[in-house]
Amino acid sequence: MAASIFLLLFVIVMCFGFVLLFGAPYLPTHKKQIALGLKMAALRKDEVVYELGCGDGYILREIARRGGRAVGYELNPILFIVAWLSCLKYGGRIKVRYGNFWNVNIAEADIVYVFLLEKFMKRLDQKMLAEAQKGTRLLSYTFKIPGKKIIAEAEGMYLYQY
Ligand SMILES: C[S@@+](CC[C@H](N)C(=O)[O-])C[C@H]1O[C@@H](n2cnc3c(N)ncnc32)[C@H](O)[C@@H]1O
Repeated sequence: MAASIFLLLFVIVMCFGFVLLFGAPYLPTHKKQIALGLKMAALRKDEVVYELGCGDGYILREIARRGGRAVGYELNPILFIVAWLSCLKYGGRIKVRYGNFWNVNIAEADIVYVFLLEKFMKRLDQKMLAEAQKGTRLLSYTFKIPGKKIIAEAEGMYLYQY
C-alpha cells in the first residue's frame, strides 16, 4: 500500500517536474486577468486562439464561451487529460493536444496566449517572427517580449502585434 502511494506520488511529481525542462511550471492565470486579456485582445467570433501550455483548459473554455475557437497544447500528461475532458462538451470549438508547443507551428493562430517565464520570451519572439501571420496578436501574462513595442497593457497582461 505504502509502495503504491509512493509510486503514485512519484508519477505525479514527475509529470509536473519534467515539464520544467521545456517551459514554465503550472501556475494558472488569475481569472480576472483572463477576462481583461481577452477583452484587450478584442477576440472576435470564430477567431482562432492558440494557448501554448494550456494547463487545465480553463482559458480554452473562456475563449469558446466568448465565441472564439481555441487550440491548446499541454505537455503535462495529467493536465492534458484534465483539459481534454473538461473541454469535451465544447466539441469542435476547442482542440486540446498533447505535446511540446515549441514543436508546433502557430501560423493558423489569430491570437497566441502564453504565461511562460522571462527566460523563454526571446525564443517565443523568434517563433512568432518565423511562423505567425502578419497581424497575429500575442497576449502574454506577466512577462514581456524584450525590445518589442507593447500595443496595450493592464494588470500584468501585455498585448503585441506581429
Ligand atoms: C504557467 S502555466 C500556465 C497555464 C495556463 N496557460 C494559464 O495561464 O492558466 C504553464 C503551463 O504550460 C505547460 N508547459 C510548459 N512548457 C510546455 C511546453 N514546452 N509544451 C507544452 N506545455 C508546456 C505547463 O505544464 C503549464 O501547464
